Amino acid sequence: MLIHTIQELRTEINKWKKDGLTIGLVPTMGALHNGHLSLIKKAKSTCDKVVVSDFVNPIQFGPSEDFDKYPRTLEEDVKLCDGEGVDIVFAPSSDEMYGKGQRLSNDTLTYVCPPFFYVNKLCGKTRTGHFDGVCTVVLKLFNIVQPNYAFFGQKDAQQVIIIKKMVNDLNVPIEIIQCPIVREDTGLALSSRNKYLSETGKQDALVLSKILNNIKTCYNKGITDVEALKETAYSFLTDKHDMEYLEIVDKDTLEDKIKADDNSIALIACRVENVRLIDNIYLKESN
Ligand code: PAJ
Repeated sequence: MLIHTIQELRTEINKWKKDGLTIGLVPTMGALHNGHLSLIKKAKSTCDKVVVSDFVNPIQFGPSEDFDKYPRTLEEDVKLCDGEGVDIVFAPSSDEMYGKGQRLSNDTLTYVCPPFFYVNKLCGKTRTGHFDGVCTVVLKLFNIVQPNYAFFGQKDAQQVIIIKKMVNDLNVPIEIIQCPIVREDTGLALSSRNKYLSETGKQDALVLSKILNNIKTCYNKGITDVEALKETAYSFLTDKHDMEYLEIVDKDTLEDKIKADDNSIALIACRVENVRLIDNIYLKESN
Protein backbone atom coordinates (compact mmCIF):
# COMPACT_ATOMS: atom_id res chain seq x y z
CA MET A 1 0.00 0.00 0.00
CA LEU A 2 1.39 3.42 -0.97
CA ILE A 3 0.77 6.14 1.61
CA HIS A 4 1.73 9.82 1.34
CA THR A 5 0.44 11.30 4.59
CA ILE A 6 1.42 10.85 8.22
CA GLN A 7 -2.20 10.70 9.32
CA GLU A 8 -3.06 7.84 6.97
CA LEU A 9 0.08 5.98 8.01
CA ARG A 10 -0.71 6.41 11.71
CA THR A 11 -4.20 4.94 11.20
CA GLU A 12 -2.67 1.74 9.78
CA ILE A 13 0.10 1.61 12.40
CA ASN A 14 -2.43 1.99 15.23
CA LYS A 15 -4.38 -1.02 13.93
CA TRP A 16 -1.20 -3.11 13.92
CA LYS A 17 -0.23 -1.94 17.40
CA LYS A 18 -3.68 -2.86 18.71
CA ASP A 19 -3.17 -6.37 17.34
CA GLY A 20 0.22 -6.59 19.06
CA LEU A 21 2.14 -6.97 15.78
CA THR A 22 5.85 -6.17 15.53
CA ILE A 23 6.78 -3.46 13.07
CA GLY A 24 9.98 -3.04 11.06
CA LEU A 25 11.02 0.21 9.38
CA VAL A 26 13.44 0.39 6.45
CA PRO A 27 14.30 4.06 5.83
CA THR A 28 15.39 4.79 2.24
CA MET A 29 15.63 7.61 -0.25
CA GLY A 30 14.19 5.37 -2.97
CA ALA A 31 15.82 4.39 -6.27
CA LEU A 32 15.73 0.95 -4.72
CA HIS A 33 18.31 -1.68 -5.62
CA ASN A 34 19.29 -5.07 -4.24
CA GLY A 35 21.10 -3.44 -1.32
CA HIS A 36 17.82 -1.91 -0.15
CA LEU A 37 15.99 -5.15 -0.90
CA SER A 38 18.36 -7.07 1.39
CA LEU A 39 17.28 -4.78 4.25
CA ILE A 40 13.64 -5.31 3.32
CA LYS A 41 14.09 -9.11 3.25
CA LYS A 42 15.73 -9.01 6.67
CA ALA A 43 12.85 -6.85 7.97
CA LYS A 44 10.28 -9.27 6.52
CA SER A 45 11.96 -12.22 8.25
CA THR A 46 12.17 -10.33 11.58
CA CYS A 47 8.83 -8.49 11.86
CA ASP A 48 5.10 -9.04 11.32
CA LYS A 49 4.69 -5.79 9.37
CA VAL A 50 7.18 -3.82 7.30
CA VAL A 51 7.15 -0.13 6.38
CA VAL A 52 9.61 1.19 3.79
CA SER A 53 10.00 4.96 3.76
CA ASP A 54 10.89 6.46 0.40
CA PHE A 55 11.85 10.10 0.85
CA VAL A 56 14.69 12.11 -0.64
CA ASN A 57 15.43 14.15 2.45
CA PRO A 58 16.32 17.72 1.46
CA ILE A 59 18.00 18.63 4.75
CA GLN A 60 20.76 16.04 4.44
CA PHE A 61 22.05 17.45 1.13
CA GLY A 62 24.52 20.33 1.01
CA PRO A 63 23.81 23.29 -1.30
CA SER A 64 26.21 22.00 -3.98
CA GLU A 65 25.14 18.36 -3.70
CA ASP A 66 22.87 16.24 -5.92
CA PHE A 67 19.44 16.77 -4.29
CA ASP A 68 17.81 17.96 -7.52
CA LYS A 69 19.19 15.23 -9.74
CA TYR A 70 18.96 12.39 -7.17
CA PRO A 71 17.11 9.52 -8.95
CA ARG A 72 13.39 9.41 -8.12
CA THR A 73 11.73 6.16 -9.22
CA LEU A 74 8.73 5.81 -6.92
CA GLU A 75 6.62 3.72 -9.31
CA GLU A 76 9.37 1.11 -9.73
CA ASP A 77 10.15 1.24 -6.01
CA VAL A 78 6.54 0.41 -5.15
CA LYS A 79 6.60 -2.57 -7.55
CA LEU A 80 9.80 -3.87 -5.98
CA CYS A 81 8.34 -3.43 -2.49
CA ASP A 82 5.14 -5.22 -3.52
CA GLY A 83 7.29 -8.09 -4.79
CA GLU A 84 8.92 -8.36 -1.36
CA GLY A 85 5.59 -8.27 0.50
CA VAL A 86 6.16 -4.84 2.04
CA ASP A 87 3.01 -3.71 3.86
CA ILE A 88 3.38 0.05 3.42
CA VAL A 89 5.57 2.29 1.28
CA PHE A 90 5.54 5.69 2.97
CA ALA A 91 6.43 8.41 0.45
CA PRO A 92 5.69 11.81 1.99
CA SER A 93 6.28 15.16 0.33
CA SER A 94 8.74 17.55 1.90
CA ASP A 95 5.80 19.71 3.08
CA GLU A 96 4.25 16.65 4.74
CA MET A 97 7.48 15.83 6.58
CA TYR A 98 8.56 19.32 7.57
CA GLY A 99 5.37 21.38 7.45
CA LYS A 100 4.05 23.58 4.67
CA GLY A 101 6.07 26.74 4.24
CA GLN A 102 8.59 25.61 6.83
CA ARG A 103 12.02 27.07 6.10
CA LEU A 104 14.46 24.18 6.18
CA SER A 105 17.16 25.67 8.35
CA ASN A 106 18.33 25.12 11.92
CA ASP A 107 17.34 28.73 12.65
CA THR A 108 13.70 27.74 12.42
CA LEU A 109 13.49 23.94 12.66
CA THR A 110 14.43 21.58 15.50
CA TYR A 111 17.41 19.50 14.42
CA VAL A 112 19.04 16.45 15.97
CA CYS A 113 22.78 17.11 16.06
CA PRO A 114 24.98 14.08 16.65
CA PRO A 115 28.21 14.65 18.62
CA PHE A 116 31.08 16.51 16.99
CA PHE A 117 33.47 13.59 17.53
CA TYR A 118 31.31 11.38 15.29
CA VAL A 119 30.64 13.92 12.55
CA ASN A 120 33.96 15.72 12.31
CA LYS A 121 35.55 12.92 10.31
CA LEU A 122 35.09 10.69 7.25
CA CYS A 123 31.98 11.78 5.29
CA GLY A 124 31.07 14.45 7.85
CA LYS A 125 34.26 16.37 7.17
CA THR A 126 33.22 17.41 3.66
CA ARG A 127 29.45 17.02 4.07
CA THR A 128 28.84 19.70 6.72
CA GLY A 129 25.46 19.24 8.38
CA HIS A 130 24.78 15.98 6.54
CA PHE A 131 24.44 13.83 9.64
CA ASP A 132 22.29 16.46 11.38
CA GLY A 133 19.91 16.10 8.44
CA VAL A 134 20.08 12.31 8.55
CA CYS A 135 19.49 12.05 12.32
CA THR A 136 16.66 14.59 12.17
CA VAL A 137 14.76 12.75 9.46
CA VAL A 138 15.45 9.33 10.95
CA LEU A 139 14.21 10.36 14.40
CA LYS A 140 11.11 11.87 12.77
CA LEU A 141 10.50 8.61 10.90
CA PHE A 142 11.00 6.69 14.15
CA ASN A 143 8.40 8.88 15.86
CA ILE A 144 5.98 8.65 12.95
CA VAL A 145 6.19 4.87 12.46
CA GLN A 146 7.12 3.81 16.01
CA PRO A 147 8.69 0.57 14.82
CA ASN A 148 10.16 -2.15 17.04
CA TYR A 149 13.09 -2.59 14.66
CA ALA A 150 14.78 -0.37 12.09
CA PHE A 151 17.14 -1.65 9.41
CA PHE A 152 20.27 0.06 8.11
CA GLY A 153 23.08 -1.00 5.81
CA GLN A 154 26.74 -1.24 6.70
CA LYS A 155 27.34 0.40 3.33
CA ASP A 156 26.88 3.71 5.15
CA ALA A 157 29.00 2.66 8.11
CA GLN A 158 29.37 6.11 9.70
CA GLN A 159 25.62 6.67 9.35
CA VAL A 160 24.64 3.48 11.18
CA ILE A 161 27.17 4.12 13.96
CA ILE A 162 25.77 7.64 14.44
CA ILE A 163 22.17 6.38 14.42
CA LYS A 164 23.01 3.73 17.05
CA LYS A 165 24.61 6.48 19.13
CA MET A 166 21.51 8.69 18.79
CA VAL A 167 19.21 5.80 19.76
CA ASN A 168 21.37 5.07 22.79
CA ASP A 169 21.86 8.68 23.90
CA LEU A 170 18.20 9.66 23.45
CA ASN A 171 16.72 6.39 24.84
CA VAL A 172 14.83 5.65 21.64
CA PRO A 173 13.02 2.32 22.22
CA ILE A 174 13.91 0.83 18.83
CA GLU A 175 16.37 -1.94 17.98
CA ILE A 176 18.76 -1.08 15.15
CA ILE A 177 19.59 -4.00 12.88
CA GLN A 178 22.68 -3.60 10.72
CA CYS A 179 22.80 -5.51 7.43
CA PRO A 180 25.89 -6.41 5.36
CA ILE A 181 26.94 -4.63 2.16
CA VAL A 182 25.45 -6.02 -1.05
CA ARG A 183 27.83 -5.89 -4.02
CA GLU A 184 27.75 -6.61 -7.71
CA ASP A 185 29.70 -9.73 -8.77
CA THR A 186 32.51 -7.34 -9.74
CA GLY A 187 32.82 -6.20 -6.11
CA LEU A 188 31.23 -2.77 -6.68
CA ALA A 189 29.02 -1.89 -3.70
CA LEU A 190 25.46 -1.21 -4.87
CA SER A 191 24.43 2.43 -4.58
CA SER A 192 21.65 4.57 -6.03
CA ARG A 193 24.44 6.90 -7.22
CA ASN A 194 25.97 4.15 -9.43
CA LYS A 195 23.24 5.22 -11.89
CA TYR A 196 25.30 8.34 -12.60
CA LEU A 197 28.31 6.29 -13.80
CA SER A 198 29.13 5.35 -17.40
CA GLU A 199 30.28 1.78 -18.14
CA THR A 200 33.91 2.95 -18.01
CA GLY A 201 33.17 4.80 -14.79
CA LYS A 202 31.81 1.58 -13.28
CA GLN A 203 35.06 -0.18 -14.19
CA ASP A 204 37.10 2.63 -12.63
CA ALA A 205 34.87 2.47 -9.54
CA LEU A 206 36.03 -1.10 -8.85
CA VAL A 207 39.18 0.45 -7.41
CA LEU A 208 37.33 1.23 -4.15
CA SER A 209 36.60 -2.41 -3.32
CA LYS A 210 40.00 -3.50 -4.68
CA ILE A 211 41.80 -1.10 -2.33
CA LEU A 212 39.72 -2.25 0.64
CA ASN A 213 40.15 -5.96 -0.12
CA ASN A 214 43.87 -5.48 -0.53
CA ILE A 215 44.10 -3.70 2.83
CA LYS A 216 42.22 -6.57 4.44
CA THR A 217 44.56 -9.12 2.82
CA CYS A 218 47.63 -7.17 3.96
CA TYR A 219 46.23 -6.93 7.50
CA ASN A 220 45.56 -10.65 7.60
CA LYS A 221 49.15 -11.25 6.45
CA GLY A 222 50.36 -9.37 9.51
CA ILE A 223 50.71 -5.70 8.50
CA THR A 224 49.07 -3.62 11.22
CA ASP A 225 50.63 -0.17 10.83
CA VAL A 226 47.74 2.02 9.62
CA GLU A 227 49.93 4.32 7.53
CA ALA A 228 51.57 1.32 5.83
CA LEU A 229 48.15 -0.21 5.12
CA LYS A 230 46.86 3.07 3.68
CA GLU A 231 49.91 3.39 1.45
CA THR A 232 49.02 0.13 -0.31
CA ALA A 233 46.16 2.04 -1.98
CA TYR A 234 48.34 4.22 -4.18
CA SER A 235 49.23 1.50 -6.68
CA PHE A 236 45.50 1.21 -7.58
CA LEU A 237 44.81 4.89 -8.18
CA THR A 238 44.91 6.60 -11.56
CA ASP A 239 43.96 10.10 -12.72
CA LYS A 240 40.37 8.78 -12.97
CA HIS A 241 40.19 8.68 -9.17
CA ASP A 242 39.81 11.68 -6.93
CA MET A 243 40.29 10.25 -3.45
CA GLU A 244 38.52 12.10 -0.63
CA TYR A 245 39.57 9.88 2.27
CA LEU A 246 40.89 6.46 3.19
CA GLU A 247 40.81 5.77 6.91
CA ILE A 248 41.17 2.82 9.27
CA VAL A 249 39.26 3.37 12.52
CA ASP A 250 37.44 1.44 15.26
CA LYS A 251 34.33 -0.17 13.76
CA ASP A 252 32.10 0.74 16.71
CA THR A 253 33.41 4.08 17.94
CA LEU A 254 35.14 5.57 14.86
CA GLU A 255 38.24 6.23 17.00
CA ASP A 256 41.48 6.60 15.05
CA LYS A 257 44.04 3.83 15.22
CA ILE A 258 47.81 3.79 14.81
CA LYS A 259 47.83 -0.01 14.65
CA ALA A 260 44.92 -1.82 13.03
CA ASP A 261 43.32 -4.65 15.01
CA ASP A 262 40.45 -7.12 14.67
CA ASN A 263 37.97 -4.35 15.55
CA SER A 264 39.11 -2.13 12.70
CA ILE A 265 37.19 -0.99 9.68
CA ALA A 266 38.72 0.54 6.54
CA LEU A 267 36.57 3.20 4.87
CA ILE A 268 37.04 4.97 1.57
CA ALA A 269 35.38 7.85 -0.29
CA CYS A 270 36.50 8.53 -3.83
CA ARG A 271 35.09 10.44 -6.79
CA VAL A 272 34.88 8.73 -10.17
CA GLU A 273 33.45 10.79 -13.06
CA ASN A 274 32.71 13.34 -10.33
CA VAL A 275 30.34 10.85 -8.64
CA ARG A 276 31.10 10.53 -4.95
CA LEU A 277 31.31 6.85 -4.01
CA ILE A 278 31.86 5.30 -0.57
CA ASP A 279 32.69 1.79 0.57
CA ASN A 280 34.13 0.02 3.61
CA ILE A 281 35.31 -3.34 4.90
CA TYR A 282 35.85 -4.96 8.30
CA LEU A 283 39.46 -6.08 8.47
CA LYS A 284 38.65 -9.27 10.32
CA GLU A 285 35.13 -10.54 9.81
CA SER A 286 33.72 -11.70 6.51
CA ASN A 287 32.01 -8.80 4.79
P1 PAJ B 1 19.69 5.36 1.05
O1 PAJ B 1 21.00 5.80 0.49
O2 PAJ B 1 18.53 5.17 0.15
O3 PAJ B 1 19.95 4.01 1.81
C1 PAJ B 1 18.94 3.40 2.56
C2 PAJ B 1 19.54 2.24 3.32
O4 PAJ B 1 20.03 1.26 2.39
C3 PAJ B 1 20.74 2.67 4.20
O5 PAJ B 1 20.65 2.06 5.46
C4 PAJ B 1 21.93 2.17 3.40
O6 PAJ B 1 23.07 1.88 4.19
C5 PAJ B 1 21.35 0.90 2.78
N1 PAJ B 1 22.14 0.49 1.61
C6 PAJ B 1 22.45 1.25 0.53
N2 PAJ B 1 23.25 0.55 -0.31
C7 PAJ B 1 23.44 -0.66 0.25
C8 PAJ B 1 24.18 -1.83 -0.11
N3 PAJ B 1 24.87 -1.88 -1.23
N4 PAJ B 1 24.13 -2.90 0.71
C9 PAJ B 1 23.42 -2.85 1.88
N5 PAJ B 1 22.71 -1.78 2.28
C10 PAJ B 1 22.72 -0.70 1.49
O7 PAJ B 1 20.93 6.09 3.68
C11 PAJ B 1 19.96 6.74 3.29
O8 PAJ B 1 19.22 6.39 2.18
C12 PAJ B 1 19.44 7.98 4.01
O9 PAJ B 1 20.52 8.64 4.61
C13 PAJ B 1 18.36 7.66 5.07
C14 PAJ B 1 18.88 6.77 6.19
C15 PAJ B 1 17.13 7.01 4.40
C16 PAJ B 1 17.87 8.99 5.71
O10 PAJ B 1 17.36 9.86 4.75
